[in-house]
Amino acid sequence: MKHMQAPAHMQAPVAPLLEVDGVTLQYKTRDHLVTATSDVSFSIYPGDRFVLLGPSGCGKSTLLKAIAGFIRPVRGQLRLKGEVITRPGPDRMMVFQEFDQLMPWKTVRQNVAFPLRCNGVSADEADARAVEVLKKVNLSKFLDAYPHMLSGGMKQRVAIARAMGMRPDVLLMDEPYAALDALTRRKMQQELLDLWDDVRFTVVFVTHSIEEAVLVGNRILVLSPHPGQVKAELNSHHFDASHQGGAEFQSLCGRIHHMLFDDAQPVH
Ligand SMILES: Nc1ncnc2c1ncn2[C@@H]1O[C@H](COP(=O)(O)OP(=O)(O)OP(=O)(O)O)[C@@H](O)[C@H]1O
Ligand SMILES: [Mg+2]
Repeated sequence: MKHMQAPAHMQAPVAPLLEVDGVTLQYKTRDHLVTATSDVSFSIYPGDRFVLLGPSGCGKSTLLKAIAGFIRPVRGQLRLKGEVITRPGPDRMMVFQEFDQLMPWKTVRQNVAFPLRCNGVSADEADARAVEVLKKVNLSKFLDAYPHMLSGGMKQRVAIARAMGMRPDVLLMDEPYAALDALTRRKMQQELLDLWDDVRFTVVFVTHSIEEAVLVGNRILVLSPHPGQVKAELNSHHFDASHQGGAEFQSLCGRIHHMLFDDAQPVH
């Protein structure tokens, strides 16, 4: 069993929250098998902002789907709090890239309250929690708006609030800002860091942007091209958007760029 070291800022020993242990993931198409990731191992600790970074097709989304319990590994195991992951559950909530993940016929607060209601929370409690979490993502003025009245960035904030409202053990984010314009994306990245400062949740964040990985993550797993294998695991600092031009930030970005492009293995 291979395990990554606990991140330097944490006092050992801390039990991992999520363990991905020698995981190989495959898709079966009509005439062949596609191996998405091969023998991938890492451990995530409470409060981590853990980034999966790698080129298109290296299996980042597939790994996230396996953590969410949508697909099962052909080799290896995924465990949440020591329990093998076999199916989706409210302890792992996903935020996708697309803006259309909200129900258009429900208001913002109803969208956020809906999964709570589905999981047995009373109407009053669900609404109170929706209002509280929407305040944290700066949407208090839009509680009764419908999704079509919101910008792309605002819709993503609602999706984040909906996931956070469930108080999951792990928040899973698959390139949540990739479809936003550069300015909104920067703002949303900073908001995520501010939210983390406030709530200290655990997040697995998928991106193929090196800058986004260094800004958002405290730990970064660099994956090789398809099929994804672990190239390196790096610690990042708690940068904020104002550090992006700084030497330390740029140096880490440069190191990762070198790993991904200059020593890239051939794409199969
Ligand atoms: N439903 C599917 N059926 C067959 N193959 C698939 C399926 N989904 C993904 N794949 C293949 O698995 C591999 C990994 O795909 P995945 O979507 O996980 O990559 P990714 O790293 O998220 O890429 P991107 O950055 O483009 O989103 C790719 O070769 C892809 O073609
Ligand atoms: Mg993807």
